Amino acid sequence: MSANRLMARLEERIRLTGPISVADYMTACLADPEDGYYTTSPEPFGRDGDFITAPEVSQMFGELIGGWVVATWIAMGAPDPVHLVELGPGRGTLMADILRTARLRPALMDAVAVHLVELSPKLRQRQGETLGGFSSALKVAPQWHEHLSRVPEGPTLLIANEFFDALPIRQFVKTAKGWCERVVGLDNQGKLCFGVSSVALAGGLVPDTARAAEAGAILEASPASAAIAAEIGVRIAAQRGAALLIDYGYLRSAPGDTLQALSRHAFADPLAEPGKADLTAHVDFQALALAAMQAGADAMAPLTQGEFLLRLGLLERAGQLGAGKAAATQERLRGEVERLAAPDQMGELFKVLALSTPGMMLPGFERRGR
Ligand SMILES: C[S@@+](CC[C@H](N)C(=O)[O-])C[C@H]1O[C@@H](n2cnc3c(N)ncnc32)[C@H](O)[C@@H]1O
Repeated sequence: MSANRLMARLEERIRLTGPISVADYMTACLADPEDGYYTTSPEPFGRDGDFITAPEVSQMFGELIGGWVVATWIAMGAPDPVHLVELGPGRGTLMADILRTARLRPALMDAVAVHLVELSPKLRQRQGETLGGFSSALKVAPQWHEHLSRVPEGPTLLIANEFFDALPIRQFVKTAKGWCERVVGLDNQGKLCFGVSSVALAGGLVPDTARAAEAGAILEASPASAAIAAEIGVRIAAQRGAALLIDYGYLRSAPGDTLQALSRHAFADPLAEPGKADLTAHVDFQALALAAMQAGADAMAPLTQGEFLLRLGLLERAGQLGAGKAAATQERLRGEVERLAAPDQMGELFKVLALSTPGMMLPGFERRGR
């Protein structure tokens, strides 16, 4: 019997009902109510956790997004009320930095209703602690939801940073029979292993970009991500609004294996410790944009994170924060700018997709063709 409870349950499930999809495996590892990574891990983000996200690297990230939120709210005609929604808010750091910046516009603070879409009870509590200091500045207390569909209708500003990479993906392997689903099954010793189902995808379901792929190539699809992108699209097409989706990923759909496990800032075997390591996949931004556009929203031309932050004034903000400060502070700020925007750090791997109500222009972005 395995010492890892989730592994033991997964092995038992597979013994009883057969191999499971990579998407089902990811869902169990990340969101199992008793043993999932996000539901049990107290502090996965930050220097002491398994990985570090941009809001945890520097306050400047959230402050610049806060400035974008203020400018976009004004471009929307300053609706009151307006829903400020964050998907997967982690420790609540990004929302706190956004609200600190939004405080410079008291009318926005009066209008805003904060909604946090979070599955982990532990992280909800952490977010509540982080945002506690804003209780007197907000007219309406922040509300938590399990799903975006629970957020009331109305003009919406939505932010998601490193949310979509945590959503489950399905994988397909190119075989002599065609594209067959990659599954998690059991090896001869009864341990978790990857396998390939014997049934091939119907030809019509294979995207054009994958037709020339060689044997062994892997194709990924995230129906869960596409469904949420479509839901965002429906919401902001029908009501005024905009969304900012930030993540690591690729701009054009193409085959490739991007499933990865991270533990203590190092790559790990995705099957070794279910529920103990973060499991992610790179985000297919073309698929997100298509799903949102098919639902009626406009998608701006995506930017790299580096370009986006520089357009919003990253260097100027670092200059402001460092002015008159000790050399060590200025050195720290320089390091944060590098980490967020340098092409060999987060600057190019991370992309920013902005969605809007049809016809609306968004600060920092140019429209892209439909
Ligand atoms: C990688 S963390 C990013 C945290 C934060 N946005 C940041 O940048 O620091 C992913 C976040 O999404 C949440 N999450 C993952 N899957 C979710 C789901 N299906 N529904 C709601 N929240 C989810 C996690 O609990 C966590 O708060």
